[in-house]
Amino acid sequence: MERNVYRAHCLVLAFPAQGHINPMMAFSKRLERKGVKVTLVITKSISNPIHKESLTSITLETISDGYDEGGIAKAESIHAYLERFRQVGSQTLAELIEKVSSSGCPVSCVVYDPFVPWALDVAKKFGLLGAALFTQPCVVNNIYYHVHKGVLKVPLSKTEILLPGLPPLESQDMPSFIYDSVSYPAAFDMFVGQFTNLDQADWVFVNTFYELEQKVVDWMAKIWPLRTIGPTIPSMFLDKRLEDDKNYGFDIFKPNTDACMKWLNGRPKGSVVYVSFGSMVAFEVEQMEEIAWGLRMSNRCFLWVVRESEEVKLPKNFVEETSEKGLVVRWCPQLEVLAHEAVGCFVTHCGWNSTLEALSFGVPMVGVPYWSDQSTNAKYIMDVWKMGLRAPVDEKGIIRRKAAEHCIREIMEGERGKEIKKIAFKWRKLAKEAVDEGGSSDKNIEEFVANLVHS
Ligand code: UDX
Repeated sequence: MERNVYRAHCLVLAFPAQGHINPMMAFSKRLERKGVKVTLVITKSISNPIHKESLTSITLETISDGYDEGGIAKAESIHAYLERFRQVGSQTLAELIEKVSSSGCPVSCVVYDPFVPWALDVAKKFGLLGAALFTQPCVVNNIYYHVHKGVLKVPLSKTEILLPGLPPLESQDMPSFIYDSVSYPAAFDMFVGQFTNLDQADWVFVNTFYELEQKVVDWMAKIWPLRTIGPTIPSMFLDKRLEDDKNYGFDIFKPNTDACMKWLNGRPKGSVVYVSFGSMVAFEVEQMEEIAWGLRMSNRCFLWVVRESEEVKLPKNFVEETSEKGLVVRWCPQLEVLAHEAVGCFVTHCGWNSTLEALSFGVPMVGVPYWSDQSTNAKYIMDVWKMGLRAPVDEKGIIRRKAAEHCIREIMEGERGKEIKKIAFKWRKLAKEAVDEGGSSDKNIEEFVANLVHS
């Protein structure tokens, strides 16, 4: 689009992680489609560049987090990283806003990830509008908000937790940084700290869709100008309105696309169990072994993403001994895999992107949550959205092989699986409708853009 016909200019700042950059990119593309110029900002420390061809006409810029060579892995602690990112990032973001604004297309709004709330302070110093974009669901944000307000006290004392807009929750349904706030103090501060200055945000966006979280969205929208804008999944997998939107634009690891797709192409409809625990989860060896055995005992074909760092945790000779039934890869094109008709079940850590992708493609899930928001997502997958099962743990907190096998069989061949498949149609349809023309998320994005133009 020609510069002089842009309706507005947004600077979109992504937090440097797989599960955060891609939703920001997908949202950027939706803005661009509505005539907004977008400058996407990532940190210099992102070692794998964004696939340039996926950027369309979005401009890519970088700021510094203070660890240009190596990023968070080079910091002494998460706390040290976040503090340095705040200091160096605030300064380099301000410099970038000045540079970009003097180039003839002034910035009107900074869209930022609330993991870095200081970005809103920078925007306000320049007199710009600020829009937070939460990359986790409303239900989880609502829990953190109540901790921030002091309404929900940690350590948790009650067994049943009652919060507005949410069903009764037990402590095991809480985000791990809440039920175990002591082990990860930096993460606790970061998640709860998302709300410190949120009252100054002009918009609060959440990567979810209204129909999925209606009750809690309605409740939270009474506090902030909150709007749902998801699922932030590339258009080609949903409404197909953005012709050049093929896949996500950022991969932390190189996907083994050809091998995965070739292997899936030969398989019957709904016959494959896809297993992936996202970009960060690092199970104990014992847990990895139990999952491996459960998978083997289920006697199903499987495609398992085991990141390079996790490979040593697989049982000895597992890959060789299961090669007739299974394919183990280090990274895959997850969207293409979930969209493939051969996939009948997703054994997932319930990261928010994976959850939203499975809901949007109508793939039933077996939840194997590990930390962060994953337990809450797993609770909703099973009891609220009825899109899967949460694998039960023993007294040591381990999912045993029999439990894993049972859950996979229930989904692949049991009555529960049949019910879930019926419900899956509904979510698939609603997810597509939300982002399609005139859908709940599409309207919210349009309303935002119209306001930018008039502000
Ligand atoms: C993290 C947290 O773990 C998660 O709980 C939080 O909600 C977001 O940040 P991550 O663990 O990476 O993210 O999980 P998830 O949110 O599911 O994101 C993983 C992304 O990587 C998904 O978009 C998925 O499609 C993609 N992926 C995963 C691939 O493209 N290939 C793979 O092989 C595996």
